Amino acid sequence: MDQPDYADLIAAALAARRQAYTPYSHFAVGAAALTGSGTLFPGCNIENAAYPATVCAERVALFSAYAVGEHDIAALAVVTDTDDVARPCGVCRQVIAELAPRCTVILLNLRGDQQFCTPQDLLPHSFGAAHLSNS
Ligand code: THU
Repeated sequence: MDQPDYADLIAAALAARRQAYTPYSHFAVGAAALTGSGTLFPGCNIENAAYPATVCAERVALFSAYAVGEHDIAALAVVTDTDDVARPCGVCRQVIAELAPRCTVILLNLRGDQQFCTPQDLLPHSFGAAHLSNS
């Protein structure tokens, strides 16, 4: 099967990165979620002087999709300005595993490096809803 065309998704993640609010780390991250129906939801990291209140770009994108009832996440692109592509943090891996379990994750940097992976690659043996049903 042909690889889907992710050009618009990647462009959305690049544009979202330019909206990052990063007065503390100065590390801008852009993300975009693509739904099965073709809608794009951008996300950027949004920091806070109370540092733990910061939200990562990946979660902003996924939460934006969920906020309008879009649960069918086909792909998630994440862009950073790093030598190698950057991998999502642990919290985002957990959120991706639950909210976008079958998506294609595309990690990119500004040099044009791309890496495709799955939520399972990022977080194997993850904790999930099934574990709660025994309690
Ligand atoms: N950040 C993300 O947006 N996504 C990640 O997966 C890793 C980290 C953000 C959070 C913070 O604003 C900055 O990058 C430095 O950690």
